[in-house]
Amino acid sequence: MNVLGIETSCDETSVGVVDGDGRVLANVVATQVDLHARYGGIVPEVASRQHVLDIRPVCEQAIIDAGIDWGDIEAVTATHGPGLAGSLIVGLNFAKGLSAALGVPFVGVNHMDGHVYGAWARTEDYGPKPFQELVGEQPIMCLVVSGGHTELVLLEDHGKFRLLGETRDDAAGEAFDKAARVLGLRYPGGPEIQRVAENAPDAEPLPRAWMRGTDEFSFSGLKTAVLNRARALGIYPPGASGEAADPQIIAGLAKAFQDSVVDVLVTKTIAAAKREACVGIVLVGGVAANGPLRASLESKSPLPVAIPPFKLCTDNGAMIAMSGLVNFRNGRRDDWDLDVIPSLRIGTSSLI
Ligand code: KG4
Ligand code: ZN
Repeated sequence: MNVLGIETSCDETSVGVVDGDGRVLANVVATQVDLHARYGGIVPEVASRQHVLDIRPVCEQAIIDAGIDWGDIEAVTATHGPGLAGSLIVGLNFAKGLSAALGVPFVGVNHMDGHVYGAWARTEDYGPKPFQELVGEQPIMCLVVSGGHTELVLLEDHGKFRLLGETRDDAAGEAFDKAARVLGLRYPGGPEIQRVAENAPDAEPLPRAWMRGTDEFSFSGLKTAVLNRARALGIYPPGASGEAADPQIIAGLAKAFQDSVVDVLVTKTIAAAKREACVGIVLVGGVAANGPLRASLESKSPLPVAIPPFKLCTDNGAMIAMSGLVNFRNGRRDDWDLDVIPSLRIGTSSLI
């Protein structure tokens, strides 16, 4: 069964194809990162217009990459939320049109469920176990960390999720993006902070918000701590000291910030996994691309950890196709008047 998945919830137009064993046959991503970088964050109207331009060529390329014909697609799936309304509508309507044209079923997929199922998609360098073998191995603790979300989700059974806790304010990726802005680094901030923190000198640690007794998170206090320290060190606002900021100071502060986020995410995820008697941990979402986060979780966790390769961590169509495959296998079909978007993320994610 070949499933085609469409993802347009934010600033990536992506189409992926997986086969019935969850093997990724294609995963084409057209990113808008450079388009939005000049504004320091995502501009929703610009994003939806670009999706309109990109969706058709990206879809055609996915069919070519997969080495199949349109008639080999047996189901179509697309992200129906959460995300930016104008962006979601583009992928969702394209998917509905495609399913009507091909005469195959359509199902809408939750973006966060999609991120989780990115961990089950199989590529040449990843995915040692066939999808079927994993059915029955639960519960699994999933840490979903992206630009819009930070969630601890318990996968109780395939297709059955329980939200244990989420951020009360900023998402982890959003905090990376905002801290990067304070430090004068480019958008998206996560990869930039990781890059400059690599050879950083030791710096005074920043606080951790543990939110004890709950699986919830909070990152806005940490963001304020970065801002306050940047002010005290004379590197914020930019040009306040009259001269260019010392790269070593920026690097030290970036590392202190990253250490704090990683420590909180890893410690709380492992504690929740032990408490819920999980058989494994899954780390997904754009922030899962962070090297120190991956390394820390893998070294500290007593349970097996599954972290998809970079291309399956950030927004992509293959993870949506994978989640669609699970939904189809569970007998789900959406009818034609699905235009309910469960929750919308409106506005830019990286403005302070
Ligand atoms: O999942 P994603 O691609 O899009 C959303 O659904 O939000 O995640 C994007 C987020 C951005 O906030 C970006 O800064 C963050 O993932 N990110 C990283 C890294 N690469 C991307 N954060 C930390 N370290 C990274 N290497
Ligand atoms: Zn995402």
